[in-house]
Amino acid sequence: MPDRYAVFGNPISHSKSPQIHAEFARQTGQDLTYAAVLVALDGFAPAVDAFRVGDGRGINVTVPFKLEAFQYAQNLTERARHAQAVNTLIFDGISVLGDNTDGAGLVRDIEHNLGFKIAGKDVLLMGAGGAARGVLLPLLMCKPQSLTIANRTPQKAQDLAQHFAAHGTVRASDYVGLAGDRYDLVINATSSSLNDELPPLPPRIMAPGALAYDMMYGKGLTPFLAFAEANKAQTLADGLGMLVEQAAEAFYVWREVRPQTRPVIERLRKS
Ligand code: ATR
Repeated sequence: MPDRYAVFGNPISHSKSPQIHAEFARQTGQDLTYAAVLVALDGFAPAVDAFRVGDGRGINVTVPFKLEAFQYAQNLTERARHAQAVNTLIFDGISVLGDNTDGAGLVRDIEHNLGFKIAGKDVLLMGAGGAARGVLLPLLMCKPQSLTIANRTPQKAQDLAQHFAAHGTVRASDYVGLAGDRYDLVINATSSSLNDELPPLPPRIMAPGALAYDMMYGKGLTPFLAFAEANKAQTLADGLGMLVEQAAEAFYVWREVRPQTRPVIERLRKS
């Protein structure tokens, strides 16, 4: 019997994870199945229990269950503990390990695929919700010169900055307070692109050679990326690379084999 994996979410029909993991398995010759499971909004824990009893080896977790997966896990990796959210569960037949591969996926896309080294750079992270929290530790591990968290509700940015202060130079700001600043890397981890909105960034925020990264994908040129282009960012990127890289990191955690992501990103980009 092949090892069983799945992605749990609600909704789930749009998920690209089954396609991505099928390609990874084919590439690496791993014998496994990977399904998309629509889980009832009040039924996460029983659904995971049932999957484990049926010899499931691991699941990815997407909206809206990342917090419940965090609570479900008996043990946590450091990056999941700091993210306070889990997107990958690993079952070894006895215990349940919770991991979070989102931040590693973002960093790998930025550094490896886009060729942009974070070390020594001034980084602006917009947003202070779950998406921002999930990527903070891996970003700080890259040793940026500074990392500023900007949020509409400044208290949430301050709370996050305080939580991560031991891991690097982190400061919090509202958007008005960014006036006059320049950043080498600006990451949109807000949900603004979902609603075709733009966080109220001051102009001239992009330093020469800046990379503007929207963690959203499939939305074309989001208002943030259009702003970045108009304000002379050198490189624009959406979150498709991050999506594939977080999947590759989960695949690696489960199978100890690193799949090639570039052909998968290119194929998804075309479709
Ligand atoms: P997620 O899990 O995607 O992070 P979330 O926890 O609801 O979702 O957080 C959404 C984030 O996007 C928040 O930081 C929110 O700012 P507030 O905390 O001030 O609400 C931010 N956000 C959403 N729409 C925005 C907009 N139009 N401009 C700026 N920030 C926005």
